[in-house]
Amino acid sequence: MNTIIEPFRIKSVEPIYFSSSDERIDILKQAYYNPFLIKARDVIIDLLTDSGTSAMSSEQWSGVMRGDESYAGSESFFRFEKIVNEITDMPFIIPTHQGRASEKILLSLMGGDGKYVLSNTLFDTTRANVEFSGAEGIDFRCTESNDPDVWAPFKGNMDTTALQTFIEERGPERISLVILTVTDNSGGGQPVSMANIKDVHSICKAYGIPLFIDACRFAENAYFIKLREPGYGTKSISQITREMFSYADGCTMSAKKDAFANIGGFLAMRDGKLAEKCRNLLIITEGFPTYGGLAGRDLEAIAIGLREVMEEDYLKYRIRSIQYIGEKLDVFSIPYVKPTGGHAIYLDARRFMDHVPIHQYPGLCLCNALYLEGGVRGVEIGSVMFGKYAADGGLVSPPMELVRLAIPRRVYTQSHIDYVAEVIGEVYRRRRSFAGYNIIYEPPMLRHFTARFEPVG
Ligand code: F0G
Repeated sequence: MNTIIEPFRIKSVEPIYFSSSDERIDILKQAYYNPFLIKARDVIIDLLTDSGTSAMSSEQWSGVMRGDESYAGSESFFRFEKIVNEITDMPFIIPTHQGRASEKILLSLMGGDGKYVLSNTLFDTTRANVEFSGAEGIDFRCTESNDPDVWAPFKGNMDTTALQTFIEERGPERISLVILTVTDNSGGGQPVSMANIKDVHSICKAYGIPLFIDACRFAENAYFIKLREPGYGTKSISQITREMFSYADGCTMSAKKDAFANIGGFLAMRDGKLAEKCRNLLIITEGFPTYGGLAGRDLEAIAIGLREVMEEDYLKYRIRSIQYIGEKLDVFSIPYVKPTGGHAIYLDARRFMDHVPIHQYPGLCLCNALYLEGGVRGVEIGSVMFGKYAADGGLVSPPMELVRLAIPRRVYTQSHIDYVAEVIGEVYRRRRSFAGYNIIYEPPMLRHFTARFEPVG
């Protein structure tokens, strides 16, 4: 059989409200043309994020009932700690309420004025935490990642030559940390190869710089290694993940992604002294070290989710279902980042909306067009999210203008996805009828969440 079916049955359903296209014109206006400000009820297919939006399994829901809510020493914590330790082989495991809480704690201790944090690509909250600490975050992406049309197996790889040159030029003492994001979310959900993780590890080790993995999508990354990297085809996902983590000194994790949890995260590391400092900060911001901002039931759901995400039937379906969208788009020659990544499809908005100048935000234009056309919500990953202003006030754009359609785990079926592909096809056909936007309000940091826009003209 060629059809790869969803490896689950649906036991509980949530109704979808079908807004009309006339309603959506008004809804978008009320939301100041920022998809983050649209009420979820008014979205038909919500591909804003794969974070915290997974469907939990019946096992996870059973775990929710089993959750031990003791303030200290909860049984759920020990079950959580055991599985994280099995996956990472790291002895110090600290629960947090989500990924950015882990980042905040780690970077408060390791960032600081005059320091650098180097990465393949820092996710936006990671970058914000780096900058908030006073440090500067710099991405060294491999060259093939800049061309959306180039098919390469590991476009999430870090450019190790650029990494080494930078360390030599600025001095290793100024580099507080290297963070490898697997998969590389902001760059297209592209995986990082084991060889690259190993190389980055060797460089970090030579200069005494700690290497952390941003592990949000570690299992998807491991599956790509199994599929694409010579020598890994017969290894189990847990063997691959253990090897990946063996090269790192620690990791930050958002359990809202590859743990199928609606909330949660953790920090794991090998350095006991650093862990002690992290726990001291944890106590004042998150909670006692055996719950760290989570209920016992959340820890239980994460522990079960972490086992489920490593099942190969699931990962095969997951990666294949993202590829499936790409194949649908190929029929209309719609530009997107190739190959398809692990958790999302990234439309190339610069080419899709090539009549909209960059300073009028083609990515936002495409996002809003998808919403107007079919009630599909995606997220702009381009000049709204990462744009900066030069001294003369001009917009400095990131290398790519993308629209990410992130697929929540185990939530939508093939017919939902067929519908999304039809919506994209229709917007592409009428693309010239959509105009760009001007910003009318923006906050000083992470502006994409709350900025307000108005259509040009
Ligand atoms: N790192 C990566 C690679 C992420 O994708 C995210 C979140 C975080 C860290 C922060 O984790 O949300 O639990 O605080 N990404 C979400 C997304 C928000 O939509 O991609 P968090």
